[in-house]
Amino acid sequence: MRIAFIGGGNMTTSLVGGLVRRGTPAGDLWVSDPVTAQLERLAREFGVRGGADNREAAREADLVVLAVKPQQMADVARGIATQLTERRRVVVSIAAGIRLADLARWLGAGIPIARAMPNRPALIGAGITALYGGNGITVRDRDDVEALMSAAGATVWLDQESQMDAVTAISGSGPAYFFLLIEALEAAGIAAGLPAGTARRLAVETARGAGLMAAESGETPAALREQVTSRGGTTAAALEVLEAAAMRDTFGRAVAAATRRSAQLADQFGGT
Ligand SMILES: NC(=O)c1ccc[n+]([C@@H]2O[C@H](COP(=O)([O-])OP(=O)(O)OC[C@H]3O[C@@H](n4cnc5c(N)ncnc54)[C@H](OP(=O)(O)O)[C@@H]3O)[C@@H](O)[C@H]2O)c1
Repeated sequence: MRIAFIGGGNMTTSLVGGLVRRGTPAGDLWVSDPVTAQLERLAREFGVRGGADNREAAREADLVVLAVKPQQMADVARGIATQLTERRRVVVSIAAGIRLADLARWLGAGIPIARAMPNRPALIGAGITALYGGNGITVRDRDDVEALMSAAGATVWLDQESQMDAVTAISGSGPAYFFLLIEALEAAGIAAGLPAGTARRLAVETARGAGLMAAESGETPAALREQVTSRGGTTAAALEVLEAAAMRDTFGRAVAAATRRSAQLADQFGGT
């Protein structure tokens, strides 16, 4: 299957890198980008060819990945609409906040389109991507889309497109919540007398270890938390302060704010 990436930036680089590392022949991949330096870099690192003509890329491909910024999407989608009518091709948009209805308006009715919402750790192959298939997406298309996006980490399918705003608020924006927590732990460690480098290392490695345990142990996060919290101990003393500060409620309000903002941005990007 020939896959064309429209837009050769960060996300395309991580997907192309992941696919090539997993054995996809570089000759099956094509990248379209106006910046020659981007194409040269992708050719050098992964042996993937490309060009500046989005129409040519779309015409030759079986699967077209739209990987430009949301504000560029309307022009890019309209620009390849004619090529997509020539024969059946699946289009995958990885742009945050671009709805299927808007893509269908720009690309033309009847094109099978899926949406993918990756997150930042996808750039190091440790992302999670939420997927949603629109009208005309078959079971086989879903397998192809999942194989594509799993090159950048885990995948999960949604059963309603409207859930994408909540996904954006949890996994899209989520890495920043964890970075904030690492920052706060580092600062607290320094305030408690640790050298700065040691405080950061302890905070970062603890985040990594806790994330890996939550992902791999098969236990619920609540059970893992209880296992490290002995009655009257140090962890219990800290958690008491966090619970008294209504940390769970604060996260609830933060995620609600991000969800609302995601819907607003989708309205804004789709209004062209
Ligand atoms: N990076 C993330 O963490 C992340 C997470 C979730 C979703 N996403 C989504 O993934 C998409 C791509 O993000 P990214 O970080 O890879 O962005 P990026 O690095 O800016 O890549 C976009 C690329 O598309 C090129 N481009 C611009 N106009 C074009 C056109 N008309 N035809 C073809 N290519 C064109 C850009 O060139 P110029 O630089 O010259 O404009 C740039 O090289 C975005 O829609 C974003 O919402 C990204």
